[in-house]
Amino acid sequence: MLGKNLTIIGGSGGMGKVFGEFFKEHGFKITLHARNLEKLKTAAKKLDVKYESSLEESVKEADIILVSIPISSTASMIHKVSPLLKKNALLVDISSLKSEVVKTMKESIKNYPINCLSLHPMFGPGIKNMRNFVMLLIKIGGTVNYEEKVKDLIKIFELNGLIITETIPDIHDKRIALTLGVPHMFNILFLNLIRRTKEPLTELTKYTGTTFLLQKVFAESIIQREMDMFAEIQIENQEFYEVLNLFESLIKEYKDIILKKDKPKFKQLFLDALEYSKEDDDFKYSYMFFYEFLKILKEEKKA
Ligand SMILES: NC(=O)c1ccc[n+]([C@@H]2O[C@H](COP(=O)([O-])OP(=O)(O)OC[C@H]3O[C@@H](n4cnc5c(N)ncnc54)[C@H](OP(=O)(O)O)[C@@H]3O)[C@@H](O)[C@H]2O)c1
Repeated sequence: MLGKNLTIIGGSGGMGKVFGEFFKEHGFKITLHARNLEKLKTAAKKLDVKYESSLEESVKEADIILVSIPISSTASMIHKVSPLLKKNALLVDISSLKSEVVKTMKESIKNYPINCLSLHPMFGPGIKNMRNFVMLLIKIGGTVNYEEKVKDLIKIFELNGLIITETIPDIHDKRIALTLGVPHMFNILFLNLIRRTKEPLTELTKYTGTTFLLQKVFAESIIQREMDMFAEIQIENQEFYEVLNLFESLIKEYKDIILKKDKPKFKQLFLDALEYSKEDDDFKYSYMFFYEFLKILKEEKKA
């Protein structure tokens, strides 16, 4: 039902390579496409798959087309590639934001006899094994066999242990603002806040307690990742602007509490956060996890 010819637009990128390897292992015939020919050739050689530098040629025989290019170019690529696809082809994107992508895909299935599906893998190119990682999924629709095609694709992912969560664009972008945008922002701000005090990090490390040590590890790992994508996840998401407004008023409230030495209000804020945390199934394990992470860090340092 799915067909075996699969083209990855953005096949020389981090996620393109991950999905190239994944689908090759599952017997698909892969073609990679991207603009920089040298990088494209290197990626294709490493994966031992075909490459095609012409967009039109790369997709014309494809049963599945995976768009794995930066967030800000994904919707225009969907618009550009849709008329080039064969009848009943399945066009899939993996962009980290969905509002523009889904709008464009809805236009595409109105205008062409193709299928569209929007995925968001909640993992990065460093992944070794997909077991227990989450993939968000938004069904767009298409031709008569749409549901069967989507079911077949989901089956491949689930057999590899991926957890598939179906969602809708508005909820997706709002929640992604909170689960990606906010932790990225806090970690970028954390390092910049202490940097602006002009205290050298090496000196601070000598004064480290448990919380600072772990926070530093999170921040230092985030700051080594894909800067352009992190920027797009925050800058291109309208929902993130709302979160920033909330954050700004919360900071003002917090500053006020501290400057006025308002301990009851501090206590209230602390307890509100505690109550909210208790809704989480992992809440009761969090303190234990914290010390498990620390144990790893301390052991690693000794080794
Ligand atoms: N990285 C992550 O952790 C992660 C996680 C989940 C989802 N995603 C999503 O996955 C997508 C790709 O991310 P990535 O990290 O793999 O990006 P990346 O490493 O920067 O790779 C982007 C790829 O797209 C190609 N490309 C860029 N513009 C293109 C265009 N106009 N036409 C054809 N090819 C183009 C690039 O090659 P050329 O420049 O040579 O064309 C490259 O092969 C993004 O939408 C991102 O939101 C990423």
